[in-house]
Amino acid sequence: MPSTQEKLIELLALNGTVFISGQDISETLNISRTAVWKQMKRLEKEGYQIEAVPNKGYRIVALPSIMSKNTLQWGLKTKWLGKNMVHQIKMPSTQTKANQLAQEGCAHGTVVIADRQETGRGRMNRSWFSNNDLGVWLSIVLRPNVPPLQGPQLTLVVATVLAELIELDVGITPAIKWPNDILINGKKIAGILTEMQAEQDKIHHIVIGIGLNVNQLADSFENEISKRATSLKIETGETFEKQKLIQSLLKRFEEAFDRYQLTGFSEVKDKWESFGYKINEEVSYKAGNVEKQGVIRGISTDGALIMENKQNQIETLYSAEINW
Ligand code: BTN
Repeated sequence: MPSTQEKLIELLALNGTVFISGQDISETLNISRTAVWKQMKRLEKEGYQIEAVPNKGYRIVALPSIMSKNTLQWGLKTKWLGKNMVHQIKMPSTQTKANQLAQEGCAHGTVVIADRQETGRGRMNRSWFSNNDLGVWLSIVLRPNVPPLQGPQLTLVVATVLAELIELDVGITPAIKWPNDILINGKKIAGILTEMQAEQDKIHHIVIGIGLNVNQLADSFENEISKRATSLKIETGETFEKQKLIQSLLKRFEEAFDRYQLTGFSEVKDKWESFGYKINEEVSYKAGNVEKQGVIRGISTDGALIMENKQNQIETLYSAEINW
């Protein structure tokens, strides 16, 4: 249940730059005029700048600079994604929290965001360095209407959305390294962690965790990581407003997800391949303990890597050590 303050913010957001009268607010939210005034004072204390004009009413003219659920949802132009949102300044891991909420039955499209994570998790049980507020750390709970075997396709949907976000909002073209690392100039800028709970023929939920390095400088990373990691700031010299990136990411992902559910995977596959790292290039790789050489040709509909080996045979690799 949204609080009165959340409802008020939503109402003011809906009206944008148009004033809304105290009377209208009081009627819509079913609270007294004095309560409306008190709520406005509370918002001001939290950093919202409110313009109050006699005979016209109220409107918000500036938002607090600190990220909160309210400011994240303000101007979020999604239909279902992030309508249920949990934001905390710190938590051990948004992924762990989102999994827990999913188990408890939270809605499709729930988004969990932390300014910093004390024990961020990466793929293959690695840790994900995120105990700072310099990146976007969030997890999305989905209850998709697709068979479990197709669940991993969603990771590829997210990878293409992240690549497009960086290309279109930031202006640099990244590459997607199979299965789902986002790279700029060969260094990792974002990672995706997908965890699924399913029965044989039904997905209960999928939790997709996204880590995007945003405002880190080269020395913000721990020594070992700094050789392999980069951030939007390192690549562009600019500082980014994380809130805007999150809103754009959620909007783009909602559109991509709805389209994927409607039209299937083939568009996603084409897009993924257009960003694919080392597509049509020769690499060496180890599959089933055998060292080989081959040319990466793309991905299959289930997200496997398609490799053309030295004998011109096509191999579909679900797991392999690629010597990038
Ligand atoms: C990887 O490349 O290994 C995946 C990294 C995923 C990191 C994100 S940050 C938000 C979410 N919470 C976590 O603990 N991990 C994911």
